[in-house]
Formats: sequence, C-alpha cells, structure tokens
Amino acid sequence: MDLAQLTRDLESLRDEALGQAAAAPDSAALAALELELLGKKGRLTGVLRGIGALPAEDRPGVGAAANTVRQAIEAALAERGAALHGGELADRLERERLDVTTPGRPIRRGSLHPSIEAMGDIARVFAQFGFVVVESPEVEDDRTNFQMLNIPPDHPARDLWDTLYVDVPGRLLRTHTSPGQIRVLQSMAPPIRVLLPGRCFRYEAVDASHGFEFFQVEGLMVDEGTTLGDLKGLLDQFAHATFGAGKKTRFRPGYYPFTEPSVAFDVECLVCGGPGCPACGRTGWITILGAGMVHPVVLQYGGLDPERYQGFAFGMGPERISMLRHGITDLRLFLENDLRFVEQFR
Ligand code: DAH
Repeated sequence: MDLAQLTRDLESLRDEALGQAAAAPDSAALAALELELLGKKGRLTGVLRGIGALPAEDRPGVGAAANTVRQAIEAALAERGAALHGGELADRLERERLDVTTPGRPIRRGSLHPSIEAMGDIARVFAQFGFVVVESPEVEDDRTNFQMLNIPPDHPARDLWDTLYVDVPGRLLRTHTSPGQIRVLQSMAPPIRVLLPGRCFRYEAVDASHGFEFFQVEGLMVDEGTTLGDLKGLLDQFAHATFGAGKKTRFRPGYYPFTEPSVAFDVECLVCGGPGCPACGRTGWITILGAGMVHPVVLQYGGLDPERYQGFAFGMGPERISMLRHGITDLRLFLENDLRFVEQFR
C-alpha cells in the first residue's frame, strides 16, 4: 500500500458514496448507507486501515484527505436526508389529510323524562314549605298498602285499587304511594313534612287516562294543631305556582278510607272555564288531586296518639299535572318512551 493507492481508494470511495447517497430511496435506506460508509466497521474505516503501512511523513496528509472525504460524504447524506424528509412529510400530509369542512357529528343531549321533570317541579314547590323527599318501597306488603291505611281485607274500598300481586304471600306491587305514610309515621317523629314520590302499579286496562304503571306524589304533614285550613292554604300555593297565580281552586267532598274528612282538590279549568269544554266537560273545574285529614286509625297504626297529633295528606299524579300543563291528551305517551315525545321536555 502506498500513498497514491490510498488516495485513489479514498477518492473512489467518496465518488461511489456520493452517488449512493443521492440515490437512496428513503430514510431507512439512507440510515443503513450511513452505517455502511461511516460506521465503526464501515468502509471509510476499512480504507484507512492501510494508513499504518505508510511511512510516518505521509500519514498526516492521508489523515487530512480522509477527513475531507468524511465531510463530503456527511454533507451528501445530510442533503439527501433533508430532501427525503421533506418528501416523506408531504406524502404523510397528503395521506393523513383531514377534511375540516366535513359537517361534525351532532352530540345528542339527554333530557329528563317528563314524569321525572314534573315530580321535580312539584318537589320544588313543596320544598319551599319545608317538605323533604322520602322514598318508600315499590314492593309492599298487604298490611302497609291496605290494612294500616284503614282498608281491611274484604272492605269494599279495595275495589278502588286493582292490585298486582307478586308470588310471595302477602306481597304486592304498591297501588299508591300512601303506604309511605305508614313507613314515615313509624320512623320519624312529628313535626313531619314529607313528600313521597314514586312508581305505582295497578291491574288496569290501559287507555288514554289509565296506565298499569304510573307515578304518584304523596304528601304528609303531621303536627299538633294541623287543620284542614292549613291543607287548603298549602294546596292553593301549589296550584298557583303550577297553573298560574290567579287560578281559582275549590275543595269538594271526597272519599278515601285513610282520610276523614276527604276532599277532591279542583283547579279552575285551564282550557276554557265554560260548558262543553273538552278538558273539564261542563263543570269548569279540573280535579288535580285527592286529600284529607289523616284518619285517626292511620295515626294509631303509625304509633301516634290522635288526641295529640293531627295531620293532612294528599296524593297526586305527576303525569296528570304534566298533561294539564302541556296540553297532552294521552297518558300512554309517558310510558312509550318515543323520543319524539320525551325530547320535547328540555
Ligand atoms: N292514594 C290515593 C289514590 O291512589 C290518592 C290519595 C288520596 C292520597 C287522598 C292521599 C289522600 O294521601 O289523602 O287514589
């Protein structure tokens, strides 16, 4: 090996390397080429191995020439790298192009079911008078649903509630929220002001105004000296908050086994107030709930002395309230969960 030969080897390595660099098809090939040319065991190192055989005075010259070759190769690799990178980026941008003009997918916002919404509205009115919401079970026992509400077995009043029984003796699906009164009386001490909203079940033929499944909101207030006048004042406030401040209301005599006296609470017809009206018939009044003074027997079943405590109770159907407020004419809509209906109550 002499100086001339080594210099030729360096030059031919450089020429070949520059050509290969310029022709590298992609970044991966370029990286492999860099290793092959300049790596520890690469071709440049291979050529320089011959340097040891040269006379000492020739070695610095070869070293300098080798550096120039290395720099030339590095520059060629870098140049090709930049070109490839630009092209690859452009390719990727093209491939992963986003069409920002495509219309977005709508996000569907949920809403409360109108029965739930109506119960919330009712609870908010009574909350202003200190009533708290309490839950009671949907599967009840005969005693609590009927007997302790002054409806003994075989009492003709049982005909008012068409009951669904479960296959555990003495157990049934509650026909109203009134058994919640018994549970509250047995577990809370007066003064009591509670609302008992919940699902009820009856063995009913379903039509526009009857469901086998529906909600009720029960109210109960018990204290010393509670009167029918307190009940009327409270229900007036409720009717005005729900149907409009100027609405007239009235009590009519009613019958429930668990209240004495019992009343029906009417609001002036919302549609017309006159004869022939589709909402009220000819009366001009619409009944919105049943109520009365808690029967002494019920207070006793609840563990209270009726000589000391009096109370009133009321029960209403939130679906009925919602139907009157929104002009809905078919109760079945509340059970069908057709989005076209339920979405209207946001
Ligand atoms: N539980 C009765 C029903 O389902 C409604 C009712 C009437 C509840 C009068 C009461 C009440 O608390 O005092 O028909």
